[in-house]
Amino acid sequence: MKGFATLLLLLLAPSECWSVFSFRETGSGKFQVSLDNILIFNHSKENPMLFGGQGETEFLESKGNFRINDDVTSRVPLTDVTVKRSGIPTSITLSSDSKHYIEIQLTEDESHPLVVDVLEMKGFDRLWLRVVAQVDELVYGGGEQFSYFSLRGRTFPIWTREQGVGRNKSTLTTFYSDKKDGAGGDYHTTYFPQPTFVSTRNYYLHHSGPNYAVLDFSHDLYHELYVLAKPGRIHVQTESDLASLVGKLTQFLGRQPPLPDWIHSGAILGIQGGTQKMLDYIQQAEDHGVTVAAVWIQDWVGRITTSFGRRLFWDWHWNPEQYPDLKAEVARLKERGIRVLTYINPYLNFEGELFKEADAKGYFVKNATNQTFVNDFGEFFCGTIDLTNPAAYDWYKNEVVKKNMIEFGFSGWMADFGEYLPIHGVSFHSGQSAEELHNQWPVMWAQLNRQAVEETGKLGDVVFWMRAGWTGTGNYTTLLWAGDQNVDWSLSDGLASTLTAALSVGMSGVALTHYDIGGFTTFASYTPPLVRTEELLLRSAEMAVFTPVFRTHEGNQPSANVQFYSSEGTLKKFGRLSRMFAAMMNYTRHVVSASSTTGLPAQRPLFLNYPSDEPSYDVRYQYMYGDDLLVAPVYLPGVNTLDVYLPSDPEASWVFLWDESIVSSGGGTVQVAAPVGHPPVFYRNVSEFVPVFRQVASEPLIDLPEFIPESQGPTTPRPRQEQEPSTCSGVKVSLKFTFVLCLVLFSKILV
Ligand SMILES: *[C@@H]1O[C@H](CO)[C@@H](O)[C@H](O)[C@H]1NC(C)=O
Ligand SMILES: *[C@@H]1O[C@H](CO)[C@@H](O)[C@H](O)[C@H]1NC(C)=O
Ligand SMILES: *[C@@H]1O[C@H](CO)[C@@H](O)[C@H](O)[C@H]1NC(C)=O
Ligand SMILES: *[C@@H]1O[C@H](CO)[C@@H](O)[C@H](O)[C@H]1NC(C)=O
Ligand SMILES: *[C@@H]1O[C@H](CO)[C@@H](O)[C@H](O)[C@H]1NC(C)=O
Ligand SMILES: *[C@@H]1O[C@H](CO)[C@@H](O)[C@H](O)[C@H]1NC(C)=O
Ligand SMILES: *[C@@H]1O[C@H](CO)[C@@H](O)[C@H](O)[C@H]1NC(C)=O
Repeated sequence: MKGFATLLLLLLAPSECWSVFSFRETGSGKFQVSLDNILIFNHSKENPMLFGGQGETEFLESKGNFRINDDVTSRVPLTDVTVKRSGIPTSITLSSDSKHYIEIQLTEDESHPLVVDVLEMKGFDRLWLRVVAQVDELVYGGGEQFSYFSLRGRTFPIWTREQGVGRNKSTLTTFYSDKKDGAGGDYHTTYFPQPTFVSTRNYYLHHSGPNYAVLDFSHDLYHELYVLAKPGRIHVQTESDLASLVGKLTQFLGRQPPLPDWIHSGAILGIQGGTQKMLDYIQQAEDHGVTVAAVWIQDWVGRITTSFGRRLFWDWHWNPEQYPDLKAEVARLKERGIRVLTYINPYLNFEGELFKEADAKGYFVKNATNQTFVNDFGEFFCGTIDLTNPAAYDWYKNEVVKKNMIEFGFSGWMADFGEYLPIHGVSFHSGQSAEELHNQWPVMWAQLNRQAVEETGKLGDVVFWMRAGWTGTGNYTTLLWAGDQNVDWSLSDGLASTLTAALSVGMSGVALTHYDIGGFTTFASYTPPLVRTEELLLRSAEMAVFTPVFRTHEGNQPSANVQFYSSEGTLKKFGRLSRMFAAMMNYTRHVVSASSTTGLPAQRPLFLNYPSDEPSYDVRYQYMYGDDLLVAPVYLPGVNTLDVYLPSDPEASWVFLWDESIVSSGGGTVQVAAPVGHPPVFYRNVSEFVPVFRQVASEPLIDLPEFIPESQGPTTPRPRQEQEPSTCSGVKVSLKFTFVLCLVLFSKILV
């Protein structure tokens, strides 16, 4: 496409020129700031661009869930203007009186034609900055958002934390989860927020400061950025279209390197249980036609037992009892083209060897009495490595990640967590405040992992994947994953939310992500049970065929869920999908390497490729996978046909993957059959990868009855009265359910 060729040229051009912002005084006490004729700030007495305020803000934490009590005691419009200097830079003081003012400077820097710095804040500890908006303007980004892709009409706090269980205040799952640790979440809770938005008025705005912030898009005529404390530099950039803007944003924030071929070559099987079980799972999978790229053994460190069940032992080195002869086996499997992957996080169990060593060296975050801060993770206690201490950081990187994982022969790992850093009663080697460090913590964790990989010369072979993030994560992590979804079809926390997550984080500058096939959070004893069905597993897997990585997770209660290995039929159907994923290899590699050079996300909204196709902006659950495939995943149960919107493409026609006689020139909706195993996908007839798509489509459907696990059977819901009710906040809650919920919540934080 022409637009993309231009974009490439632009990105490859050694030096760029831009028109600098224009600052105009438009009357007494009024001014406007615009960039490429796009009005950004419009200040007047009636509609000031800045407000200053004061208040008390409290961050209550429980297992990574935060309740933020932001008690604003004053909010003052800064109506009076003194222009101290115009030109570049322009200095302006905005005030309400002589004791309450904020001085800002508008200038350019090496990467942006407009940057805003707050030079001084007098009489305030927080501010609100207004940016001009239009009623019909759309905005995207905000980091990784799970419920809403289009951000208009809502507010989005920027604070990394658990995304929550349910994430929709009108559902029962969320209600019960809120009762425990405030763990239910909401539409905006996310592991990876980022104070960046991209507007259809063809500009982006990015705030670089780490403190708590809120993006407020709930007003028709302005957007508002709220920052607690003095803000960092605010960057504004314009471009001719959204794709070029995302290109510019990723050029600025950093792009991911391409992924290695092995990760595109087949399924990554999430399995556990020891060396022999691992080999048995591989054998069983291969016997049923599964193409295996890797096995992911989270329990390589062994397990501990708590009253809530078995948990990983957070002492990050090989456990020879659980995995005898593992090193030799890892090498043998690699010879056969199968990689072995593991798990780590930045905490150490206080009963482990590594804890003792780190504690003796003073490598942990400290508490109020300057002793090792020990955090309760549910009947086991852990220290948090102080990533601001260079000696601690290097020790974890060299002695744990490099020695115990990379040198052992593992090809990757889930680098979990990073969101839990509490705010009150902790102190750090660097002397920085927890408020300032909280959002940066996952970025430091990503950087540690990245350096371990790079310094051992393994970049491009070893892959780690993260869920927690903030600005800068995209520059360091090799891959994201969407965290812990429920094993259900809910829009706010089920399969559909992984697509929203990929699209929004893509608009925020991170191009490569994936998700747990089949979801994670399981409530086996809920009535009706929240457990994974075969239909969910297979729908989730068939969407993953059209993403860069195809990885399963057993969930927090493996025996309650349908797994790829649960029956002959599931194994065969899953095997077919894994072969389709493997057959995609040439195209997957092409899409991923293009993402590395352009910064455009692998999975992207239709309007990035078709900006002039108006209806594309309203398409919610479809995506372009690279430039040549349009994917309309089935994200609800019981679907047999689907209406697919095809944008109008002047250069190509759309061909239905499963039936080449269905061809469309786009610009409308086409209804297609969508049985399980045939996700609606269209390719562009002009693609050089048509042979790849044909090979994918050549896998015949496996027609076997749907599998229902013995243990579940068709469920007869137990009448509510039979269960002992207890009252909480005037609502009757089943005791049994409450117990199971506690169990689930605890195992959710374990993996
Ligand atoms: C700018 O602000 C002035 C004063 O509030 C208002 O009259 C004008 O419509 C605004 N312009 C735009 C384009 O928003
Ligand atoms: C990205 O990471 C590199 C190191 O790999 C660092 O030099 C660079 O400053 C980072 N860029 C940003 C924007 O953080
Ligand atoms: C905390 O303890 C360390 C040594 O363990 C010491 O160097 C440091 O000064 C102490 N900090 C405070 C605030 O007491
Ligand atoms: C600090 O941690 C130590 C254990 O490392 C604990 O004994 C002590 O009570 C903690 N102090 C506070 C104020 O929490
Ligand atoms: C939240 O749940 C309600 C009730 O099930 C549903 O109507 C609504 O669409 C959900 N919202 C989101 C964002 O998922
Ligand atoms: C693709 O479709 C376009 C538009 O219908 C048509 O002009 C072109 O000839 C087709 N190209 C191929 C290779 O089929
Ligand atoms: C993938 O590319 C290789 C060459 O790089 C080629 O031999 C192979 O046929 C391609 N596979 C498909 C399905 O087109």
